[in-house]
Amino acid sequence: MTAVFQTAGTLLAGHGSFQSIAGRLAAWDNKPQRVLVVTSPSLAAAGWAKTLQNGLSVEGIASDCLTIHLKEPTAEQIEDLNRRVEREPFDAYVGVGGGSILDAVKLLSVRRTNFQPVEAMLGVGKVIREGLPTVLVPTTAGTGAEVTPNAIVTLPDQELKVGVVSDRLYPRLAVLDPELTLSLPQEATAATGMDAFTHALESYLGKKANPISDMYALESIRLISGSLVRSYEDGQSLSARSDMLYGSAFGGMALAAAGTAAIHAMAYPLGGRFGITHGTANAMLLPHVLEAQLDEVRGRLEAAAAAMRQGLSGAGEDGIPIQPGADWALEQMADWVKRLRIPQDLTAWGVKAADLPDLAEAASKVTRLMANNPKAFTVGELEQIYRRLMPAKNA
Ligand SMILES: NC(=O)c1ccc[n+]([C@@H]2O[C@H](COP(=O)([O-])OP(=O)(O)OC[C@H]3O[C@@H](n4cnc5c(N)ncnc54)[C@H](O)[C@@H]3O)[C@@H](O)[C@H]2O)c1
Ligand SMILES: [Fe+2]
Repeated sequence: MTAVFQTAGTLLAGHGSFQSIAGRLAAWDNKPQRVLVVTSPSLAAAGWAKTLQNGLSVEGIASDCLTIHLKEPTAEQIEDLNRRVEREPFDAYVGVGGGSILDAVKLLSVRRTNFQPVEAMLGVGKVIREGLPTVLVPTTAGTGAEVTPNAIVTLPDQELKVGVVSDRLYPRLAVLDPELTLSLPQEATAATGMDAFTHALESYLGKKANPISDMYALESIRLISGSLVRSYEDGQSLSARSDMLYGSAFGGMALAAAGTAAIHAMAYPLGGRFGITHGTANAMLLPHVLEAQLDEVRGRLEAAAAAMRQGLSGAGEDGIPIQPGADWALEQMADWVKRLRIPQDLTAWGVKAADLPDLAEAASKVTRLMANNPKAFTVGELEQIYRRLMPAKNA
């Protein structure tokens, strides 16, 4: 198997790196003349867009800001946004936000140059032309979207979430500044942190794992294990936020090189049909999907457990065995689910026992991800996994 690895054109990282964006853009060969900054209301209120626009102005670059409330965008929302901006003379797009904003900017960039609706670009390798250059600044830690070739859209009438996957979605510049993640509320810190961990672990356990993805996956697992609970309990800890942001980007790099698997495939219908946010759906499923394939993943999970142990002991957590096994790794993840108050009951979103066969069927059809899973789950086995997230009286 040939391993392929691609990432953002340039990565700026570290506390304060946000301040260098304008200077970087000004130094590009084709220096942009007019930039669109896309961000969400909470980040605009914190002044990040204004800071960036002031910096751009100093460099002689004009800019506009689009502040939008966007949660897991639909294809139609991207089309609407594109109609608002496509006639303006922008020559670069900057996204400052969580995965929803970053995915929107990735799609707007190629939507502008490809003259075909987003729905025509769904799937792998369907984007024909390069998009406008993009700068992606994640404010959750996170999706790793700043370093992946993916953008995910919801199709409400089909009750599905589907990816656009193309090398043309990598940004020209990705910026990891942990200060922008300090304001992330606790619940989103938990959900997006578990999502990042899931990217690393699924890439590491998946069939397409390779030496390149393994390196990023194990380092991501180590960093996130040592900072997940800290960033949740003390959101103002810059060191915990920094480790989470690097961990999330490395998880995205692992994902870019190897791909996710059954957990993500099972999360998509929960998002598409019941509106369960991406991170929460993955976090709910993580321990159960692993348990259901423990025989297939035991060896690799032991290696992942060693990386988890390193991270946890560095963070001063007690009671960690010297040579932790796969069972310990599962217990540890179950412990995170409790400490981070990850819900474990699908009925809270209106899921009924009668919905489980359809959910299992839909997950089994996400073949791009299911094909990468260590165990070939039957539809019946997928249904059993969903059933673990139903209180006994409803299941
Ligand atoms: N492209 C990829 O590779 C990839 C990978 C995984 C997930 N995704 C997609 O990303 C989306 C989810 O992204 P997400 O989990 O980052 O959540 P999100 O972008 O939907 O953000 C969640 C909430 O947190 C708020 N928020 C974000 N950063 C904040 C900050 N620093 N301070 C205060 N509030 C903040 C947002 O405004 C939003 O209300 C989903 O659509 C998912 O499918 C994409
Ligand atoms: Fe994810």
